[in-house]
Amino acid sequence: MSDLAFSSLQAGKPVRIEKNGESICVTRVGDEVFAINDICSHSDASLSEGDVTDFKIECWLHGAEFDLRTGEALTPPAVAPVKTYSVTVDGDSVTVEM
Ligand code: FES
Repeated sequence: MSDLAFSSLQAGKPVRIEKNGESICVTRVGDEVFAINDICSHSDASLSEGDVTDFKIECWLHGAEFDLRTGEALTPPAVAPVKTYSVTVDGDSVTVEM
């Protein structure tokens, strides 16, 4: 069962979904879709409320940036990565693999 419709995702506008008890930030960049854990590794902030530039998402609280493709923390104050999830896009169906 899909989690989202691809057509509902606007490029650069992350969406938060809940799945299996986890909060996940789903972001479309061009025709690709990336999913990372929604909770910043620095503190308790929702990354889906952050700004997206290219393949980076910036935490709105203290400005740490993460790579949407790898979850890597790119700039302080975050140092730990966030979890990433595989995403399957099939037509208009977007499914986050847990
Ligand atoms: S909570 Fe995200 S950078 Fe501090």
